[in-house]
Amino acid sequence: MARNNGKHVSKKLVFLLSCAGFLGVALIADFFWASSSSLSSAYSSIASNWVLEKSETVVVPNVVKGKAVKSKNGTHDARILSGTFADLPGPELKWEKMASAPVPRLDGSAVQIKNLLYVFAGYGTIDYVHSHVNIYNFTDNTWGGRFNMPKEMAHSHLGMVTDGRYVYVISGQYGPQCRGPTSRTFVLDTKTKKWSDMPPLPVPRYAPATQLWKGRLHVMGGSKEDRHEPALDHWSIAVKDGKALEKKWKTEIPIPRGGPHRACVVADDRLLVIGGQEGDFMAKPGSPIFKCSRRSEVVYSDVYMLDDEMKWKTLPPMPKPDSHIEFAWVIVNNSILIAGGTTEKNPVTSRMILVGEVLQFNLRTMKWSVYGRMPYRIKTTLVGFWDGWLYFTSGQRDRGPDDPQPRKVVGETFRTKLHL
Ligand SMILES: *[C@@H]1O[C@H](CO)[C@@H](O)[C@H](O)[C@H]1NC(C)=O
Ligand SMILES: *[C@@H]1O[C@H](CO)[C@@H](O)[C@H](O)[C@H]1NC(C)=O
Ligand SMILES: *[C@@H]1O[C@H](CO)[C@@H](O)[C@H](O)[C@H]1NC(C)=O
Repeated sequence: MARNNGKHVSKKLVFLLSCAGFLGVALIADFFWASSSSLSSAYSSIASNWVLEKSETVVVPNVVKGKAVKSKNGTHDARILSGTFADLPGPELKWEKMASAPVPRLDGSAVQIKNLLYVFAGYGTIDYVHSHVNIYNFTDNTWGGRFNMPKEMAHSHLGMVTDGRYVYVISGQYGPQCRGPTSRTFVLDTKTKKWSDMPPLPVPRYAPATQLWKGRLHVMGGSKEDRHEPALDHWSIAVKDGKALEKKWKTEIPIPRGGPHRACVVADDRLLVIGGQEGDFMAKPGSPIFKCSRRSEVVYSDVYMLDDEMKWKTLPPMPKPDSHIEFAWVIVNNSILIAGGTTEKNPVTSRMILVGEVLQFNLRTMKWSVYGRMPYRIKTTLVGFWDGWLYFTSGQRDRGPDDPQPRKVVGETFRTKLHL
């Protein structure tokens, strides 16, 4: 209700701020992270990125498009304050709304095997994580089978890849809020729906880049145990038919830049690592529930490639920084398509900004372009391709066309006919 009443809200905020001493201000900032970026860094809470009605009462007041707005640091264009300046021009696409996933999911994972999209884990809310798999059938466009994950398996920030039958599941965060990671790894046989163990990673990682390449399972980057510090380490282990052929992970050439939430793709027998970020929310020191608190983040547009030479090469960067895209890509007709994500924070307000484009990397020309616009901006989408259609489901969407900050966690599913 209060969400559209910017004037009322900003008056209320001014009143609150002028009444409060410093401690009070810090507490308010902690609860309503969105209220003031200048107070945010040390005290912010992930609440602003979740469905918390209260946090909406203090968003930037609705501004008239194009009108200059006063901010702490001078006068800025309203587009910059709202953050929509980060949107890239691109063709409108016709999206068809399909059946929603049985549960909303943020930071879930997915693999496609033929006509089925297996969707795993993820947050339902900041305090609740899923521990099951849902399956979407592209042939009849329904959500069908559901089965449980092993109790010891992480619930978000998983590394995941499939060979077309077996699904390799690597490390990730165990539990809700900003809890710690596990180094445990698992394999799912999708034919029998049986799970088995694999040698654990040498140390746990959050959202490491994960791929099968030349008979080996590669795992690199991600965040270290504190969830924030970027890791450069790169390991591999020989695998076949859902089994590790070696007892231990082998150390490989470190990745030039670390961090979680990147797309990791094998194309033409080369390994590509696309986008991502350094830094992430981490648990507030001493918090018994490991309450998430925001820390500095740098989202980047870097693209790195490994080929037979086993030396990292730099490829043309993405059209803009993009993160939270580990399961948001497909390869179609020699192009990588990536749907949504997060980009660099607003330079003035420091607010988090979502991506609403489908980006295309043409592997023949090595050129990036904007394939088209999505129905809204959204991060951690789970993407598939079937019979000419690009599908995406789930993630955290924006607050509306004029406000690219994250808000509602959704299970909505959309598709668009591709023409590449
Ligand atoms: C997917 O849907 C098709 C068409 O209804 C059906 O024949 C097939 O058995 C389904 N696959 C699974 C695994 O449910
Ligand atoms: C205000 O912020 C903008 C954008 O970050 C920056 O370019 C500019 O230099 C800043 N101005 C002042 C006076 O600090
Ligand atoms: C892929 O390319 C082929 C040949 O150019 C074309 O017929 C087909 O429609 C393309 N597929 C998609 C999904 O664009």
